Amino acid sequence: MPLSDHNDKKWVYRPHTKAKHEVLGKYLMPWTNKLTSYNLQAEQENKVRVVDCFAGRGSYADSEGADPLDLEHLQTPAEYPGSPQLILDRLTDRKNQFDTAECVFIEADKTNYNILKETLENTTGIAENISRSYFNGKFQNAVLDIVESTQGDDCPTFFFIDPFGFRSLDYNVVTEIGSTPQFEFLITFMSRDMNRFLQSDDHQEALNTVFGTNNWASAIEAYDPKNWIPLVEYYTDRLEENGPQKTFEYMISEPETTQTIYYLVFGTNHPNGLKTMREVMNHCGTGEFAYAPKQPEYDREQARLPGTGEPTEQFLLDRFGEYIITFKKLVEISSNERKYSDDTESAYREAIRELERRGEVDIQRISSKETGIQGEDLIDFHESKEFIG
Ligand SMILES: C[S@@+](CC[C@H](N)C(=O)[O-])C[C@H]1O[C@@H](n2cnc3c(N)ncnc32)[C@H](O)[C@@H]1O
Repeated sequence: MPLSDHNDKKWVYRPHTKAKHEVLGKYLMPWTNKLTSYNLQAEQENKVRVVDCFAGRGSYADSEGADPLDLEHLQTPAEYPGSPQLILDRLTDRKNQFDTAECVFIEADKTNYNILKETLENTTGIAENISRSYFNGKFQNAVLDIVESTQGDDCPTFFFIDPFGFRSLDYNVVTEIGSTPQFEFLITFMSRDMNRFLQSDDHQEALNTVFGTNNWASAIEAYDPKNWIPLVEYYTDRLEENGPQKTFEYMISEPETTQTIYYLVFGTNHPNGLKTMREVMNHCGTGEFAYAPKQPEYDREQARLPGTGEPTEQFLLDRFGEYIITFKKLVEISSNERKYSDDTESAYREAIRELERRGEVDIQRISSKETGIQGEDLIDFHESKEFIG
């Protein structure tokens, strides 16, 4: 018999829980910075919303091998707080940047829901301009109505979709969220469990729902089912078919073995969202967009040893040799085309600086004053024939 979702055995705070929370917590701060600036620019109400679609109970029963992340602003009765407090804490940190923030917590299990409500009612330190609402029900049935009843796509909204298993990851709901312009999501994609049940008759319907097609098996046929990466690649390809436009994955592995447990799948319609999440994910976990302590290829230090990976300067010369391009566009294209390279904006800036020093590019400084390299600055590769702005 499977354990019920409120069984304490399911509520143990582990290293992978912390690794997941690290990404969530670290992303919410720059997300708030950027999206509140966007609200001001777009002259719309300065509001943001976070929907914790599988909110849990805000309180783990025990921990094993990991202490929870620190809350900077909140005091909560939970010894091991969950994603709801983390979200409220990180938004509280940014309370001066928005007029209002709405947090919506969805939880299907009645016992967990009651524990969540009670725990949050006894949690203090939450900024006054952050409202909270709670829904006891299934994410896939409720989320779109909830979004509509809270005025729909009126403001930037971030969805954290964190089920225990994969049954509730309804493709139609996820792509409906993902195709909405101001919406972004972060999904826990349970690749290990899915991989285990790919051949099981009892799970075919659930898998049809996740992939939004009955033909997934033949589509994945080309992949080796023992390899988890193709599974998540297929999933993200499927998501991008109907929205969001861009996805990005982060791998979470067991701390003591090389086994992948799940991927965090991020979806956005905005290049800036992708860029920000890449930078956050690049600084989380053990390195190379993963939490995988036992896998040297995901070790930040080793990956940066000289001689490993494609040199950034060479990539830029090969890719943009025929162009004159703004720095902003160069970073956007490079981040897209080298999704899983370790390079972030500052690495591209350094590489351009090096190319300038070697006389291989000229820079017409438009955004920057003297020696900087910023958004609208034009990078002129000497072979340039075409402009990309
Ligand atoms: C992995 S836990 C959530 C943990 C929480 N996000 C955190 O980080 O602290 C998944 C939760 O989803 C709830 N749940 C299960 N099926 C659901 C559904 N269809 N809709 C919403 N919640 C569901 C479970 O009761 C459980 O509390």
